[in-house]
Amino acid sequence: MAQSSPQLQTRPAAFPSGQAKPSHDAVNLRTITFQTKSGAVHTLKAPRGANVYNSAERSGVHLPAVCKQGSCSSCVCKLLEGTVTYSTQPECLTPKLKGEGFVAICVASVNSDATFLTHQGATLRAERAEDMDRMKHRHG
Ligand code: FES
Repeated sequence: MAQSSPQLQTRPAAFPSGQAKPSHDAVNLRTITFQTKSGAVHTLKAPRGANVYNSAERSGVHLPAVCKQGSCSSCVCKLLEGTVTYSTQPECLTPKLKGEGFVAICVASVNSDATFLTHQGATLRAERAEDMDRMKHRHG
């Protein structure tokens, strides 16, 4: 009688039924939420470090953008929650405006889950105009 040799058996990892084992990629995904002025909300997943504008486009969320270099302010959103880093410092944002939460999403990447209020270009331009007026009045 031939003896069978022991065989290595593999089993799926024990996870609650219906749940896939979280992959390394899934752990690095961030949730990006876009709220529009009209109240519509779009949520998508993107890898940590992904460009915000490109992630939106890939997910079918079409936002305004002209220069895609941080210069024109057409893509500017307001960051309501989360953090971003810049691949290049946006020329359209002063430190004050960045501090107020304005983000040029064409040159911004997500580090964390983040929520943006979209279509803030006009608001930004109005704030910049007010800042210029204040400076003119201060300096005569
Ligand atoms: S598209 Fe011009 S600043 Fe982003």
